[in-house]
Amino acid sequence: MSHDPMQDRAVVVITGASRGIGLGVACWLAVSRCPLMLTARDATELERVATWLRSQGAVVEHVACDVADEPAMARALGAATAMGPIGGMLNNAGVLEPVGPIQSLDVSAFESHMRTNVTGVLVGMRQALAHRKPEHPLRIVNVSSGAATRGYRGWAAYCASKAAVNIMTQVASLEADSMTSIVAVAPGIIETRMQRIIREMPEDRFPDVDDFRKLKQQGELLHPVDAAIALAWLLRTAPLSLSGRFLDARGDGVLRDRNGEGESAVLRAKQWFDVLEAEA
Ligand SMILES: NC(=O)c1ccc[n+]([C@@H]2O[C@H](COP(=O)([O-])OP(=O)(O)OC[C@H]3O[C@@H](n4cnc5c(N)ncnc54)[C@H](OP(=O)(O)O)[C@@H]3O)[C@@H](O)[C@H]2O)c1
Repeated sequence: MSHDPMQDRAVVVITGASRGIGLGVACWLAVSRCPLMLTARDATELERVATWLRSQGAVVEHVACDVADEPAMARALGAATAMGPIGGMLNNAGVLEPVGPIQSLDVSAFESHMRTNVTGVLVGMRQALAHRKPEHPLRIVNVSSGAATRGYRGWAAYCASKAAVNIMTQVASLEADSMTSIVAVAPGIIETRMQRIIREMPEDRFPDVDDFRKLKQQGELLHPVDAAIALAWLLRTAPLSLSGRFLDARGDGVLRDRNGEGESAVLRAKQWFDVLEAEA
């Protein structure tokens, strides 16, 4: 548990919290009773997650919304401020598809991808900044990817959207005041629905698919809660001087700091995640 009382009651907002990395961060922070505002589009799934976490004693509110729908996101962030000052904003919601050679891509599917992965992050940053308390530190963490700086055949949309997240993070950081930190982070390779979709891609759409299948066979994918520990550190305790950086969560000085929690808290968060995922 943190020893900073201001930080302990600060709310963390998580987009894309109904499964995968967002759910991992929600479970990890819920274990230490951090107040949480969870969002995702599927209202039934989100309600199920929030209700279950509350039944374990977690302090959780939720608003089902599309991350690029600014009025809806404004309602979510407004509801979060009713819980306490917003200390962390995890712009995590994201999609992979459309995947395939550029000539085969459907332009409207490309635009829809950009709306979630780029406009969604823009809206998340705007709303976190609009709802911040000036005297309180705010840490915004934009979930990017190694694909932001390395091209993969078939991933024109995904690589472009994550590169956009990185540069938008840099601009937002230049504009921000000294109490605000805005970073982009490549979280690592984590076993989520997105990775399962990647492994099922046909080779003609994604020629590097075998590399991702091998990572799974070799047991190299992280559990979402293990990734969450680094993201939670960035959201709650990382130095504000990191602002503007594109960080690799597996290095770059990103600490897998447990905020005073022991191994039993990690096991509990993994247990909660596994129960919630099994029921999905
Ligand atoms: N898994 C990895 O190895 C990996 C590696 C690098 C980066 N990432 C990034 O990490 C983030 C999370 O990925 P993940 O692997 O956890 O994916 P995931 O398992 O597919 O989860 C995605 C989450 O985002 C939500 N979401 C999707 N579109 C949304 C929208 N338009 N509005 C609001 N919520 C939306 C989903 O819920 P609804 O569908 O109900 O909205 C879900 O909660 C993404 O930004 C991804 O690019 C993942």
